[in-house]
Order: sequence, then C-alpha cells, then structure tokens
Amino acid sequence: MTPATSLFSPVEADLQILADNLTQLVGNGHPILCAAAEHLFGSGGKRIRPAIVLLISRATMLEQEITPRHRRLAEITEMIHTASLVHDDVVDESEMRRGVPTVHSLFGNRIAILAGDFLFAQSSWYLANLDNLQVVKLLSEVIMDLASGEIQQGLNRFDASISIETYLNKSYYKTASLIANSSKAAGLLSEVSPETAEHLYSYGRHLGLAYQIIDDILDFTGSVEILGKPAGSDLKSGNLTAPVLFALEEKKYLEVLIEREFAQEGDLEQAISLIHDSQSIERAKELAAHHAKLAVEHITHLPPSESRACLIKMGDYVLTRLF
Ligand code: IPE
Ligand code: IPE
Ligand code: MG
Ligand code: MG
Repeated sequence: MTPATSLFSPVEADLQILADNLTQLVGNGHPILCAAAEHLFGSGGKRIRPAIVLLISRATMLEQEITPRHRRLAEITEMIHTASLVHDDVVDESEMRRGVPTVHSLFGNRIAILAGDFLFAQSSWYLANLDNLQVVKLLSEVIMDLASGEIQQGLNRFDASISIETYLNKSYYKTASLIANSSKAAGLLSEVSPETAEHLYSYGRHLGLAYQIIDDILDFTGSVEILGKPAGSDLKSGNLTAPVLFALEEKKYLEVLIEREFAQEGDLEQAISLIHDSQSIERAKELAAHHAKLAVEHITHLPPSESRACLIKMGDYVLTRLF
C-alpha cells in the first residue's frame, strides 16, 4: 500500500533498507513488542514521512551520498508517527489500521499504550544518538506537539463554535509539526543555510496541513476497504474537521445535531447528508490545495534535481490520494 512508485523512485532503495531496519530496531526487545513491531512495520503504511525526509536528504546532498544519520532520521520519523497512531487508535477506539486489526484490538489497551510509549522512548534514544542537539530539539518538540494536538482535539469534541483557525492549529500539532520539523532536520543534517532550513520547515508545515485536510475529507468520502482504517468516524466521535466547519456556515441545523451529540435516532445520518448537500467538501479541497501550493513554493528554493521534482509532485499527490 504505497503511493505511485514514481513519486518515491529516487529513494525506493532507501525505503527498502528503512523497512528492514525498522522491524529490526523495534523487534529486538520484548516478545510482545516484537509482535507489535511485526504488525506495525510489516503492514501497509504509506511511508510518506520517511520518503519526504529521504527525498529532502538527497535533494540537499547533490554532490555526495546521504549519510547514515539521514537514514536514521527517516527511521525515527516513521517510528514517532507509528507510535502516535498506536495511541491514536486507543483514543479513537479504531479497530483497523493499515488494513489490519489495530494493536489495541489484538493485545488490549494496556499493551497498546505501553507499546506506543516504548516506541516514543526508543525513537528518543535513537534521536539522542544522532548527536545533533538542534535535531534533538526539533524532534522532541514534535513529540510534545503530538500529545498536545490530541489533547486539544479531545477538549474540543462536539464544540460547533470552533473556528477553522483552531482546527488548523490543532492539525499543525497533530500532523504538520512532524513533517515540518523532520523536513527541517533533514536539511540541518546536510548543513543547509538557516534560510533553506526555514523553507524546508514551511514546505513540511503546509504539506502536512494539506495532508490532514484531505485525510479529514476522506473520512467522509472513503471506505474502510480503500482506506485500510474506518471511515465516517470523526463526526460520530465529535471531531469537527474542515468539511464540518464549512458546512456549519451553510446548514444551521447541523449545529443543533452536533450540540446534542447525535443523541436522537437518525441524527448522525442527517448530519452527514447535510454535509454532502453543501459546498463544504469542495471548500475543504480548496483549502488543502491552497496549502499544497504554498508548500511547493517553498521547495522550489532548492536547486533542481530528480528528488526535488518528486517533492514538488508530492503537492499533487496529497490532493489526489485515495487512501
Ligand atoms: C494517518 O497518517 C494519520 C494522519 C495524520 C492523516 P497516514 O495516512 O500517513 O498513515 P500511514 O502511515 O500511511 O498508515
Ligand atoms: C492520526 O489522527 C494520529 C495523529 C496524527 C497523531 P487521526 O485520528 O486524525 O487520523 P486517523 O484517521 O486515525 O488516521
Ligand atoms: Mg484516528
Ligand atoms: Mg484521532
């Protein structure tokens, strides 16, 4: 379950090494973690985040081979992401992820929380071993941001008065922060200028926002078979995303349904059809396109290369992805 291969072609071999390493890195601990690792890294993640780290590494090391540190950063990035998914699936009570049952549904919540903690701790250890204080600072901030994004989302459940800015702010913490900071960190490992490092950060930030907005649209338009995870669960659990916030401007009754937390029979179905009857999905797509375009503008500051071309194409990929 990886995106169109041409998008990743300059780093295809790197991603293969990464896949082998990830299972090994996590797998040599406790048997239950081995099982969780197999399960997590053996199945179909799209590996968008490590691909971006590796593409940026290559695009900023045109004259030289990328270093083991670049590779380790890509691994750490996927490890942090996966840890956040293990915890997220507990919070969201999701039964499926990457086309297979979630860790908590197989091993229980207790093991899932501990396995997530273990992955975060292990990624911190590998991070410290990169021996680059700036990179350590960037990625440890990400781990704080992930937790704070989940908390913000939890506190805002069923609050129909939240603004699109509040939603984007939460999306930064939950999703864009990791992509932004790992993009910048890849540049720092290549010793780019501070100015280029900021462009890389902004590329990741805008791409991450677009990625999350599309993910939130897919929750309304996708299916479990295609997504490999449940669809239609955000609204039901009170997570009000871009399509809902836009629909609220057009369909006043939606607010009533949300405020009473879909307590009456047929409320949720009615809310979903109000959303589909509005311009909200289109408007959310436009918002995602806006951020994807800004991302591409920032990456064009790098010198032309095959890897840069893929990073530019990533802007279109995030908008057209189906899972
Ligand atoms: C899922 O991320 C969570 C979001 C931030 C949208 P991905 O859709 O990248 O998940 P995997 O890694 O491919 O499973
Ligand atoms: C995914 O969040 C986890 C993080 C980004 C921390 P969501 O709950 O929005 O994403 P899915 O739909 O479960 O992948
Ligand atoms: Mg979830
Ligand atoms: Mg969630």
